[in-house]
Amino acid sequence: MAAQTGPGDHVIEQGYQAYTDEDHEVWRDLYRRQSELLPGRVCGEFLDGLDALGVGADGIPDFEDLSELLEPATGWRIVAVPGLIPDDVFFSHLAARRFPVTNWIRAREKMDYLQEPDVFHDLFGHVPLLTNRYFADYMAAYGRGGLKAMRLGALDMLARLYWYTVEFGLIDTPEGLRIYGAGIVSSRGESIYALDDPAPNRIAFDLQRILRSRYRIDDFQETYFVIDSFDALMQATEPDFTPIYEAARALPEIAAGEVVAGDRPVS
Ligand code: PHE
Ligand code: CO
Repeated sequence: MAAQTGPGDHVIEQGYQAYTDEDHEVWRDLYRRQSELLPGRVCGEFLDGLDALGVGADGIPDFEDLSELLEPATGWRIVAVPGLIPDDVFFSHLAARRFPVTNWIRAREKMDYLQEPDVFHDLFGHVPLLTNRYFADYMAAYGRGGLKAMRLGALDMLARLYWYTVEFGLIDTPEGLRIYGAGIVSSRGESIYALDDPAPNRIAFDLQRILRSRYRIDDFQETYFVIDSFDALMQATEPDFTPIYEAARALPEIAAGEVVAGDRPVS
């Protein structure tokens, strides 16, 4: 059954029949490249999700088919959108356990670099972890938290939490540091850089520190934050953020590559 959506939700048909052979070929090439690169680099929860959903060795997946697999696991469904959507609409979808996925795919000339999310980033990057119970709950809580942050005028700060966890998060495991952020997982270059390059800072997750930390959108990250587990991320973000926003607002912002007193490096 299709997700219940309504006017103003920016949901469109996926338009599956409109994909060309070349669209599917671009998907398969991106998929092959990342699925060869990621074992040993991405966390086990992501690989488990990729396996469970079978996200697309054959071509761009059908969102309805995928939703039928995902919903029984964690209650999430996928809806198609034309691209970036307004914040309040995005948060409402997340709170209702609907993940908005861009329906179009990049051109072959942009295999390595894309300024806005396409179906490969949104689907391959984000959806596998939605099979994980803790991460699935975290994303829905983030949606509710987003609507609240808008009321509190704190969206600039909360957006940093999304950036440094959902998009660019690293996780510490007994086998070593692993990737879980979708922005890394969907990028060949950054899935190598984030773990292997000596340049970026890798700092233990600290909620208030992240709320104060600016980020860059035009290059690989200068700082990554490392969580211990998805359960720990869930617990750290459970409290009411109202006083945490106030405290963070009273302190100076931190530049993207800056290291400050109290930062705990993780290697
Ligand atoms: N606990 C947060 C609040 O009170 C909501 C939230 C949960 C935000 C999880 C992000 C992630 O605003
Ligand atoms: Co994303």
